[in-house]
Amino acid sequence: MYFDSHVHLNSEQLYKDRDLFIANALENGVANMLVVGYDMESSKLAVELANSYEFLYAAVAIGPNDCNETTMEDMHVLEKYLDDPKVVAIGETGLDYYWDHVAASKQKEVFQWHIDMAKKHNMPLSIHCRDAYEDTYSMLKQASHFGVMHCYSGSAQMAQRFVDIGFKISLAGTVTFKNARVPKEVAGHIQIENLLIETDCPYLTPHPFRGKLNEPANVIYVAKEIAKIKNLEIEDVGSITEFNAKKLFGIK
Ligand code: NI
Repeated sequence: MYFDSHVHLNSEQLYKDRDLFIANALENGVANMLVVGYDMESSKLAVELANSYEFLYAAVAIGPNDCNETTMEDMHVLEKYLDDPKVVAIGETGLDYYWDHVAASKQKEVFQWHIDMAKKHNMPLSIHCRDAYEDTYSMLKQASHFGVMHCYSGSAQMAQRFVDIGFKISLAGTVTFKNARVPKEVAGHIQIENLLIETDCPYLTPHPFRGKLNEPANVIYVAKEIAKIKNLEIEDVGSITEFNAKKLFGIK
């Protein structure tokens, strides 16, 4: 079985036809999914979805691209969701210097609020990091906490540094792209015990469906590529990464 550790069934593109996407996922052995929030509305929807389907879990946060107006009041609303047993992580949160519509100083402030909340409640972080590896690394090292680097797209060496401070590495559809030398190196270098798999749907559709809308069922193509690189059976990549995800998110 497979655990898709990062889906946005709470997004506009997938929410409407969620029952179809969920049915496809289950049919393909994708038995559990983490629905991840990125602003107030999507976090609320993630919690609702997790409470509507037993195999869905939720993560709540305000991501770095949506945090311009974020206040402590918003954080208090998010914190209340953590009492819900289906909320198993805080994410996605982190730093994104690719887009520049939110100042780095504001991103860091809100990221730190999420880190503090994760530590207070002893919950894992699901980290969004784009073009901001050194700053993300130093804040997480300072925090001395745990979680997962979602849709990891940095170098193998940097990935190892994150593993060394308590973070799992989650690979998405990018690892399947023909020209994806660096993600394939990460898949080869990082031990399977430290890997998770995800689709980040509706984005990052894996080969051979690139260009189409992504959905949780496609996480098997991520597993297939990792299996090829590591010379493992795809079922084993599925069950080991499922075990890793359940352990990280505290799911029995
Ligand atoms: Ni995401």
